[in-house]
Amino acid sequence: MLNRRHFLSLSSLLLLPVSRVVEALVPNHQLLNITLKSEKKKWFSNYSPIILWGSDVEKIILKQHENVQIEVKNELSDATSLHWHGMRVKNNMDGVSGLTQAPIAIGSSFTYNITAQDAGTFWAHSHHNTYQQLAMGLYFPLIVKEEEEYKVDQDLLLVIDDWRINEHRQLDLESLGDFSEWAHGGRKGNIITVNREIEQSYLCKVGQRIRLRLLNAANSRIMTLQLPVLPTWILAKDGQPLTVPIKLDKAITIGPAERYDLIIDVTSSAGNYPIYEVSTTQNIQVATLNVISGKDIVPSSSSPSALPENPLAKLDFDQISHSTKLLMEGGAMGSLRQAKYQGEVLSVNELVKNKKIWSFNGTAGIDDKPLLSAKSGEMIEIEIINNTRWPHVMHMHGHHFKADSEHYPKGIWHDTLLLLAKEEATIVFRAGDVGKWLLHCHMIEHQASGMVTWIEVT
Ligand code: C2O
Ligand code: CU
Repeated sequence: MLNRRHFLSLSSLLLLPVSRVVEALVPNHQLLNITLKSEKKKWFSNYSPIILWGSDVEKIILKQHENVQIEVKNELSDATSLHWHGMRVKNNMDGVSGLTQAPIAIGSSFTYNITAQDAGTFWAHSHHNTYQQLAMGLYFPLIVKEEEEYKVDQDLLLVIDDWRINEHRQLDLESLGDFSEWAHGGRKGNIITVNREIEQSYLCKVGQRIRLRLLNAANSRIMTLQLPVLPTWILAKDGQPLTVPIKLDKAITIGPAERYDLIIDVTSSAGNYPIYEVSTTQNIQVATLNVISGKDIVPSSSSPSALPENPLAKLDFDQISHSTKLLMEGGAMGSLRQAKYQGEVLSVNELVKNKKIWSFNGTAGIDDKPLLSAKSGEMIEIEIINNTRWPHVMHMHGHHFKADSEHYPKGIWHDTLLLLAKEEATIVFRAGDVGKWLLHCHMIEHQASGMVTWIEVT
């Protein structure tokens, strides 16, 4: 990690915020236009602006049940596609280049037809050359509002990302694809931003109840956030409400692509309350709640009510139709000797020549055969065995699942699940819409170097 103090002292230029929130105000069949393009950010004074990849929107806000056409124009210098992470969209709208759509060529457009089935916190990100495009910033958050407003005094969104910056204070593109990082814990940045800015602070008032939406947009950094000591509850995870909000009293760990909606009651006195990222030995201040005196009433702090349930299909644990194992192997200090790659069994040396070092059930990279094939509506159980020395974050496209993991509150829904080194977890879900749904590690360098499979729903 570069010395953050040093970076912070350089970032004295504050830019006036320009609103780029695209909100579909007229329900149904509205057309939204998004242009993917590079963007300049003045993060460091005395240096040229840093150039990121992004779009002309900061975030998209939809209402639950709303249907929108989102025309995405590609003005970048590479083909791309957009995946709507956590959104239950039709398979041909899932945005996986090479599996569910052809990449959007430079200069051309693709229109995504999306219905916001679930209210919650989601995001859209590149799913083409993802290890490059995600590291360069090609993503934006997507919020689906509850049909009936969930009352809070403030609704704050913190999209947290890490970036690899070189000595010219530009994105370090040369190190993209560094294979040693792929075989270890993936690419880590050396600065952290919130909502694509360094050192964000948020004005709050004593007595307010705040909904805080957290999204980890990093390629591979598992973040642990130390929040201010205030009454805090987990309201939702990966866009799905908890049936009963659970009190959070320690720091919260968020794997790449995971989201948490929290409720924080500002019962403290006025002052600055920092949020730190503490996953490394350095405690990095990523944001500050700047609390000023406000409501005269004594702040009460009763448990928040749950969000209304989303219309997910109920699970039936006694009616499992498909039960499959997914054995994860490979990586540094692992025991992988060989794996199938593009139909051929290769030794580790040959795999490495193809930039593959991880396998699922003995196969590195995507296979033409699915991990399993199920009929829509059938119950599926996948026992994931992480037989590696590394943590992984498994993401199932188009579906939310439940898992027997010990690090999470019991019985909650996920679309992305953190598994520690050598950990095992069983995920259970009901096959959704027909199509090919990707299942992969969201430490994106691991996906690129082998950890990807798919399930077929017929
Ligand atoms: Cu958020 Cu296949 O990814
Ligand atoms: Cu992984």
